[in-house]
Amino acid sequence: MKSENSPKSKNNVVWHHATVTRERRQEQNGHKSVILWFTGLSGAGKSTLAHAVEEELHQSGAKTFVLDGDNVRHGLCSDLEFSDKDRKENIRRIGEISKLMLESGVIVLTAFISPFREDRKAARSLFPHGEFIEVYCNCSLEVCENRDPKGIYQKARNGEIENFTGISSPYEVPEKPEITIKTDELPLIDSVQKIIEYLQGREIIKK
Ligand code: ADX
Repeated sequence: MKSENSPKSKNNVVWHHATVTRERRQEQNGHKSVILWFTGLSGAGKSTLAHAVEEELHQSGAKTFVLDGDNVRHGLCSDLEFSDKDRKENIRRIGEISKLMLESGVIVLTAFISPFREDRKAARSLFPHGEFIEVYCNCSLEVCENRDPKGIYQKARNGEIENFTGISSPYEVPEKPEITIKTDELPLIDSVQKIIEYLQGREIIKK
């Protein structure tokens, strides 16, 4: 393995160049590596959809990985809460991890509310054009609140949870997502199909 003392090396840490490159991994995998960034309200179906797309991709032989808000917040981001500052840091870490995972040649699917445009934009800026695919899970607050699978909207309404997205903290709707799924209208199977067709259309995966 080669290493380099480029001007960018700092604190005596130098960047190592792997001989097994992302290109070689992609070639071996038979598909390109991209990030599918699911965003939307809690209960909008981000996680369900991300896992269903992963299942479909996995069955067709693709290498995938889902990073899920509820899980990541138990480990890597367990020190973070839900202030604007902590959410920014949460999304920053997920962006950086996704970037590393992208190098490993996998299709990364992230399911975080990621309510702030600026934070999603910062995550997008880590990737070359076309590799960050924003999937807006568009579901009305009313439907999310009626579903309330974790009973948290009820708690937020009762004032037991502060800064709750959609209730006491904003969700900034994506302006130009690559894909929008009306998760309160489209059946899951059709939503999965829409994303698979997008990936095929962009020649990220084969037909
Ligand atoms: S994000 O805003 O930083 O992107 P993230 O997706 O990691 O949020 O976590 C959201 C999940 O945390 C929700 O699905 C919900 O289960 C839980 N949660 C707990 N408190 C809050 C809150 N104040 N606002 C939103 N979600 C919360």
